Amino acid sequence: MAETQAKLFIEKEFAVAQADKRLFSSFLEHLGRAVYTGIYEPGHPLADEDGFRTDVIQLVRELGISHVRYPGGNFLSGYNWRDGIGPKAERPTRLDLAWNTIETNQFGIDEFCDWARKSGTSVMGAVNMGTGTPKEAGELLEYCNYPGGTYLSDLRIKNGHRDPHNIKLWCVGNEMDGSWQICHLDADDYGKKALETAKIMKWIDPEVELVVSGSSNTSQPTYPQWDRVVLEHTYEKADYISLHTYYENKGNDLDFLASFVDMDHFIHTIVSTCDYVKAVKRSRKKMMLSFDEWNVWYQQKQTPHGWVEAPPILEDHYSVLDALVFAGMGMTLLNHADRVRIACFAQLVNVIAPIFTEKGGRVIRQAIYYPFQLLSKYGSRGTVLKPVTVAPKTETRHGETPLLHTSVVYDGEEKMVTLFLLNLQQEDMPVELSLRSFGKVSMSERLCMTNPDLNLENTFDHPDQTAPISQPCEKGLFEECTVSLPKTSWSVLRFHVE
Ligand code: AHR
Repeated sequence: MAETQAKLFIEKEFAVAQADKRLFSSFLEHLGRAVYTGIYEPGHPLADEDGFRTDVIQLVRELGISHVRYPGGNFLSGYNWRDGIGPKAERPTRLDLAWNTIETNQFGIDEFCDWARKSGTSVMGAVNMGTGTPKEAGELLEYCNYPGGTYLSDLRIKNGHRDPHNIKLWCVGNEMDGSWQICHLDADDYGKKALETAKIMKWIDPEVELVVSGSSNTSQPTYPQWDRVVLEHTYEKADYISLHTYYENKGNDLDFLASFVDMDHFIHTIVSTCDYVKAVKRSRKKMMLSFDEWNVWYQQKQTPHGWVEAPPILEDHYSVLDALVFAGMGMTLLNHADRVRIACFAQLVNVIAPIFTEKGGRVIRQAIYYPFQLLSKYGSRGTVLKPVTVAPKTETRHGETPLLHTSVVYDGEEKMVTLFLLNLQQEDMPVELSLRSFGKVSMSERLCMTNPDLNLENTFDHPDQTAPISQPCEKGLFEECTVSLPKTSWSVLRFHVE
């Protein structure tokens, strides 16, 4: 029988890394209703003069997102960026072979950069390594970042953007290890192509940072050799290697809640692979990780559709349980802030997303909205700490799993310590907290996400029913205290250092 009592020792000198705002990034693909009737819907009562839905922009702003990766995803590998620029009436309508839909190209890179500015986010661009060439990748970069006086930069100016978009972070392809990818390559061929593309891109703009395409999940037969080979080709030009992962509930809630354990293994493996290549190359450079797709995704639930514009595909509805799993994954990313420098939850609107719209109508927050918002609000400033956690453990399909998952961030400027605590067990868990190294603290905020019905979801008629609730704080000043975490719950505890 497992012990249910847990202890957490938080020491302010046990620093992992400075929190990086880019860990709180997202992803938006030309897929289903993410763009069309998601962020862009001319004619919607709340659309602005550019056709951007202001109700959606408001929720994006409240999420506190750093970068948004665009335009894909699988879509990227068949996309010609030139289709999406210039007068809208002249843009070609195309078949999108990635998602079997019709792409009207009424929205492209210029519109996306305008939207990002209005939404208070930065752009993480992406170049096509499927049907695209290194030359076309360089041309897109020149169009976006070169100030003016060349054919492509002047074309951008003619298209209404005098100032360069200045996109400084780029993905070199997407999931190129996947046989589903349009013009999938093997690791050697992709590695060579990515290297040549990186050379061109860094010649055009030496300030850009590049993410090479890593394993798209741990079930790939090429994992992790793919990552080794790609890095052997690109090590000196790449700045990050990408990781992607999605989890779904396969019938056992505890296994599902333990998804963060699998994510943790994935990160350790890719860190080791990077460091192996570093050693082989006698390099001084430390490769960083970009976890640029992560979420809960019910992949079996795909709806069939014909060749249509913006069909409702991958529109998952998220429950409280999904939100707890999502929170656990976000915490694992934070705990690896020394190596995972960028992370994009996938995706932002309608498609496996925290924001969900009705065409022509309302918008709601899904349950996964709240953990992201709180992780971003309190986890993106200060120092990520490594607490010593003593907690009961159990075996799940991902291996040994702690029943208490923890993350701690200390914001020295604000003198605030924030604890994120996921209780996986189906009973309340008393946790002794030791914050002695900070001296006296007071508890200033306590939020908890749980519900007797873990399957509860927000709906258009009941849009807030999964939101975290405030709980009473411990009173007074103290160095230690004991809190009781409700069964199967996610809590955010904040302490002010006196
Ligand atoms: O996010 C949905 C899809 O998942 C993306 O297009 C692809 O990169 C991944 O397989």
